[in-house]
Amino acid sequence: MDGTVKLPGDKSISHRYAMLAAIAEGPSEIHFFSSSADCHSTLGCLKALGVGIESQGDALTIHGAGLRGLNAPAAQLDAGNSGSTMRMLSGILAAQRFPSVITGDDSLRRRPMKRVMDPLTRMGAHITSAEGGLPPLRIEGGAETVLSPIRYELPIPSAQVKTSILFAGLYAEGETQVTEPAATRDHSEIALEQFGADIGCHGRTIALRGPARLEGRKLYVPGDISSAAFFIAAALITPEANLVLHNVGLNPTRTAILDVLVQMGGRVRVIDVEMMAGELIGDVHCETSRLQGGEIPLELVPGLIDELPVLAVLGTQTEQGLSFRGAAELRVKETDRLSAVAENLRRMGAEVAESADGLHVAGRQRLRGAEVSSYGDHRIAMAFAVAGLVAEGTTTIRDSACVDVSFPAFFEELERVVT
Ligand code: S3P
Repeated sequence: MDGTVKLPGDKSISHRYAMLAAIAEGPSEIHFFSSSADCHSTLGCLKALGVGIESQGDALTIHGAGLRGLNAPAAQLDAGNSGSTMRMLSGILAAQRFPSVITGDDSLRRRPMKRVMDPLTRMGAHITSAEGGLPPLRIEGGAETVLSPIRYELPIPSAQVKTSILFAGLYAEGETQVTEPAATRDHSEIALEQFGADIGCHGRTIALRGPARLEGRKLYVPGDISSAAFFIAAALITPEANLVLHNVGLNPTRTAILDVLVQMGGRVRVIDVEMMAGELIGDVHCETSRLQGGEIPLELVPGLIDELPVLAVLGTQTEQGLSFRGAAELRVKETDRLSAVAENLRRMGAEVAESADGLHVAGRQRLRGAEVSSYGDHRIAMAFAVAGLVAEGTTTIRDSACVDVSFPAFFEELERVVT
């Protein structure tokens, strides 16, 4: 692998910028907005709520409707495959004076939503779901809808749930406080501040004062480090690799992947770091490395949640193998990522043990090309493209088009840098 990879704009940041721009006053100009299908689901929902959105070149203009300017949608809102869209947008929908229904694809309709319904209901929202807290969510906004601020301790670390509550808090009169059991990505806190919200953090507690008045902004979205992770992992475990990734988002709540790889002996360097609108951004260089592997410290797991599938694949090429626990959340992602990784690795002849909340992958393994499945999950498809690079023989990934969910140009970029 040699050359540079063009990354999509960060998916997490793009969702947040779009939603906040939609309820800000005046236009926002967002550059390098994520090309992912997930972020387009967010744009689709916002358009259905009456928000004007235009794209020109690398810029997206979102005409902010103001906090109270969204319109009742004519049909059900479709979040597609995107849990972030459904959970975070629910915080905004919960405060509206019109009813709405938000649904998604087969995978999303199997994902838990009680985690946002509970706190939003405590704030005064009326939300019902299908049985078991599953989508679609029916949000019964009406003329009398008024949200109150809450103090909420998140039962699980989840940036999506934190964001949903903070977005609802924009509409509540007084201080909404969210306390996290472990730090999760803080893009919402940063973006809220950029759009002019009154927000502060004290330890693991975030406090936001409502009602807010947000103002449109011009913003640049950094490259997505979770997409970069597949290329970084691939470069470390393939021979004679030398790869550069420009303008990668390096927010410290997202860079645990780099910390872990460097601690294992990965030759990863970060250069030219700068701050843009509260988000760190820089270039990442990586080369073929001899990796030790080992046990991923439990406290790092929440910050690595999207990178664990590719780390498990990389683990097969380490000296000692790789293991992690504390990742039960992987079972309720786009697919059950623990069983999907274990099953695919086994099909490639690897030795892997699966527990309720983790995986143990033996080291120094020879992978055999095989037919594997993405299980319709973008991160599984990309993790097994990396596995396919180091395997002997041909690997076929069934249902690989799902990479569009986060990184539509993934296979083109991979072909470009694989020599
Ligand atoms: C995300 C948070 C994480 C992550 C997801 C994106 C976000 O989910 O897995 O891909 O943008 O806030 P949880 O909040 O469910 O942990």
